[in-house]
Amino acid sequence: MPDTTDQPVSFPTQPRPDRAAVLCGLAGWLPPRIVTNEELSQRLDTTDAWIRTRTGIGRRHIADPGQATSDLAVAAGRRALAAASREHVDAVIVTTTTPDRSCPATAPLVASRLGLTGAAAFDVSAVCTGFIYGLASAASLITARVADSVLLIGADTYSTIVDPQDRTTAIIFGDGAGAVVLRAGDAGEPGAVGHFDLGSDGTGEELITVAAGGSRQRSTPGPVDPGDEHFAMRGKEVYRHAVTRMAASARATLTLADCKVDDIDRLVPHQANLRILRTVADDLGLPAERLVVNVDTVGNTGAASIPLALADADTKHTLQPGERVLLTAFGGGLTWGSCLLTWPALPRTRHPHDSGGTRAA
Ligand code: UT7
Repeated sequence: MPDTTDQPVSFPTQPRPDRAAVLCGLAGWLPPRIVTNEELSQRLDTTDAWIRTRTGIGRRHIADPGQATSDLAVAAGRRALAAASREHVDAVIVTTTTPDRSCPATAPLVASRLGLTGAAAFDVSAVCTGFIYGLASAASLITARVADSVLLIGADTYSTIVDPQDRTTAIIFGDGAGAVVLRAGDAGEPGAVGHFDLGSDGTGEELITVAAGGSRQRSTPGPVDPGDEHFAMRGKEVYRHAVTRMAASARATLTLADCKVDDIDRLVPHQANLRILRTVADDLGLPAERLVVNVDTVGNTGAASIPLALADADTKHTLQPGERVLLTAFGGGLTWGSCLLTWPALPRTRHPHDSGGTRAA
């Protein structure tokens, strides 16, 4: 259990020996419109060279006007269900920072649009750590025998909250969705979602925030600064936290699983910034070639980041069945988390960049 000292601590969760959540379907979906660094440099005081050098990002996908997070989530969820050869799941979890509305949650609508009316459906909010928190929630539903199968979707349309004139954020974020299907199985099977480390530190609330739109703003008399409607990030401080928190959380998960860094075949971090990813790998003593990277083509896609990186790597055969894969993320809150699993042999699906249609190959 979390302790009561002033020091932020992580909350480790262990898989149960008798029953585990097993990954059986994976897919991603990206909106077709691509925004290059060159396009951004025509309207912002920035350059392709600066963006590539400081972030490793070359382009990102942006939703069309009128396209909401649920639209991306449905497209990714449909592909993941098809990949898992399933028409039904017991629960749908959507993790996002950009829900369609502040009320109700986005997941019930997504579930209904997928033909899953009646399934349990709720949102998980942990900013860029959302997928790891969602995975822990989905796995817990299965190990607690509340559900036998769960569809987990990480989806974000950061373009709807980022200030298009803010060169420190508009260059980083992209839109997208990634989804996984989990089923009940054995802890020893490939794909069994293993040990987790989760943590938070709310004293860092101001480092990544959208100040307006919530009860704090609505309960405060006086006009709202229009800038408060936009996503704001104190980049340099966030950078430092991202490196230290992801490395520490990854280490904590390895300790829980009684594994060494050498046992890890692939590290799949939240795709925040290429420099951050390389520093985390370096800090852990993990060779750079074991790092899974797709930030160059999609930017930072928030809760969609890890499942999109997994889908990209799986369709390119970078991830091989039997490999030990460590996921790690950091995001607003502050929040962080990691998870260890052995990669399963998954049915093939379309690459996330192939946004036409939603049929699994
Ligand atoms: O997903 C949640 C986690 N998010 C993250 O992990 C993001 C973490 N932060 C970052 O990735 C980086 O801090 C940024 C990419 C946001 C910024 O990179 P940086 O290397 O930390 O740059 P900086 O903030 O130290 O700025 C260096 C200079 C500044 O100019 P001066 O003061 O040295 O004259 C900035 O004004 O670069 C300037 N700058 C830019 N120049 C050209 C900031 N943004 C840009 C830009 N183009 N887009």
